Amino acid sequence: MLRKSVADLAPSDLDGRRVLIRVDYNVPLAADGSVSDLTRVRATLPTLRYVMKNGGRPVLLSHLGRPKGEVVPSMSLAPVAPVLAEELGAPVRFVPSTDTDDAVRASTELQPGQVLLLENTRFLPGETTNDPAVAERFARLGDVFINDAFGSTHRAHASVVGVADHVRPAVAGFLVQRELEALGGLRSGGKRPFVVILGGAKIGDKIGLLETFLGTADRILIGGAMANTFLSAMGASTGQSLVERDAVALAGRFLAMGGDTLVLPTDLVVADPGAPDSAGAVVVAADSVPQDLAALDIGPESREAFSAIVRGAKTVFWNGPMGLFEKPGFDAGTASVARATAECTAAGAFTVIGGGDSAAAIRQAGLSDAVSHVSTGGGASLEFLAQGSLPGIEALDPA
Ligand code: 3PG
Repeated sequence: MLRKSVADLAPSDLDGRRVLIRVDYNVPLAADGSVSDLTRVRATLPTLRYVMKNGGRPVLLSHLGRPKGEVVPSMSLAPVAPVLAEELGAPVRFVPSTDTDDAVRASTELQPGQVLLLENTRFLPGETTNDPAVAERFARLGDVFINDAFGSTHRAHASVVGVADHVRPAVAGFLVQRELEALGGLRSGGKRPFVVILGGAKIGDKIGLLETFLGTADRILIGGAMANTFLSAMGASTGQSLVERDAVALAGRFLAMGGDTLVLPTDLVVADPGAPDSAGAVVVAADSVPQDLAALDIGPESREAFSAIVRGAKTVFWNGPMGLFEKPGFDAGTASVARATAECTAAGAFTVIGGGDSAAAIRQAGLSDAVSHVSTGGGASLEFLAQGSLPGIEALDPA
């Protein structure tokens, strides 16, 4: 990596010092307000433990949701403090502000072995506009800055980018380092055959990825709702399927550029999109979805073809589900791609899952530990793969 990491810090940078760490605790909350998925909290533990072992006193900044510069109580980070304390096995104090004297006082009073978690940075209007005054106020909270918020590193916000202008050293945490190593390996192509699996709804979010991978991947398998837009560009009847009309022409251009590299489903599981379950679902050829039905998964022939290509890969990147996997009866395509990815990992391939939905899908299949790397970043992993860097990385000290 071309930026310094926490392992490059001198012992004197940490011992006894307030270490301001930007984490990404943008976690899902259940209806009762409790944290329903701990992945992002657990992913920061190696950096926290390292800092504490070396005498540093962690002060944590994060956003949660998109409160748009206002205090929205349902987006408070308060519920994260007890779960972090339990995971870390150390006391975590929560202070309900970020830019106040109270927050600064709590940071100076913090004892070795304790952690301070502050309130949602996006409760301040200047956070997302990278207001230098807000960045300066964040900088009062620490003597050293670590960015370990990989999922937010594509955001040029005050707590990710601006703050690093005012606190030095400013380095990457272990999570950011691990993500960059895994994703950086894919950008340079990795071992062949290199197979990319793309799904999910929006081509608009993945244009950069398609452009990057058309140059490097041996095969790009396209499933999920994204496939409908490509099938529409090929002249197929798509019935009630989700088609991104503004992107049909673009999909046509990618088809012309991609040739045999792009692989689309040949059959689909279709159903009435309003039906409560999959009871009326049928399998049809991919070019002939009936007028009143919608594609909700790839069909058995496509599952077999996609899985065979994935099983033969030496490097895999997967972003986006193959269908409406959250709904029982429409998860077979996503589950078979997950199994094929796990099988080729066991056979020695390097496999990376990027993006919230695919990470949830691999978890649902119980295979998160059977792949090489599950990225904690959705937009961040896509932007890094497309651009090769991220604003929050550029802001750190050069190695
Ligand atoms: C994410 O969940 O992808 C990150 O936390 C970034 O959140 P954002 O898209 O609201 O900036």
